[in-house]
Amino acid sequence: MKMIVARDYEELSKKAADKIVQVIENKPNAVLGLATGSTPVGMYKQLVAYNKDKLVDFSYVTTFNLDEYLGIPAEHPQSYQYFMKDNLFNHINIDQSKTHVPNGMAEDIELECKTYDEMIRAHGGIDIQVLGIGNNGHIGFNEPDDELIVGTHVTSLTQDTIKANARFFDSMDEVPTKAITMGLGDIMKAKEIILIASGEAKADIISKLLAGKIDTQVPASLLQVHPNVTVIVDEVAAKLIK
Ligand code: F6R
Repeated sequence: MKMIVARDYEELSKKAADKIVQVIENKPNAVLGLATGSTPVGMYKQLVAYNKDKLVDFSYVTTFNLDEYLGIPAEHPQSYQYFMKDNLFNHINIDQSKTHVPNGMAEDIELECKTYDEMIRAHGGIDIQVLGIGNNGHIGFNEPDDELIVGTHVTSLTQDTIKANARFFDSMDEVPTKAITMGLGDIMKAKEIILIASGEAKADIISKLLAGKIDTQVPASLLQVHPNVTVIVDEVAAKLIK
């Protein structure tokens, strides 16, 4: 696992965006695995700026997002589909038919999960997967548990995650309790992974992630056995690393 400690959030965002640009430079039709949440917002802003300055071309790129809330339509401002359009897809020269976010409104959810995994496989797998990390160690919405699931699946969000997500909704009742997420197998099959984390709240989990042990109660700890992971954190998130 490689580790990059950036000075601050801005530098972290630039370093993460640069990694993605590098992958696209080497392979113009790269397949990107993307995340939502607060952490990648700066990275997406940087990618939009690079695209505007013609430093990166997304026209042959395909994307697969990690997750989506269950029961929230794509047009809902808190859906991950909406987030991706708002933060990235609507501002770059990507063919939007090549962007994929799991459909949380699918009538047959089992089929949706199976088809999502098949589509990733049919595209030759993910070239670079971007991950954030939950305070409890979740990646995608693979929450701490005794067992972790390999493929895309429906999952119940933990109280911790529901509370963390509540900041985006008007009331607690509106916060979704279930989501579709890529599984640990999908994530681990990516050729390269970058995990980004910023701020005080992530310091504890970042130190656990690097503890040299694999624990399904800290799903991100599995990344330690992946051959090509770069963890990019800012100085505050790095402060408890021994
Ligand atoms: C989002 C996702 C989640 C987030 C994580 C951190 O697509 O998969 O695992 O990356 O919850 O979220 P932030 O960045 O908001 O702290």
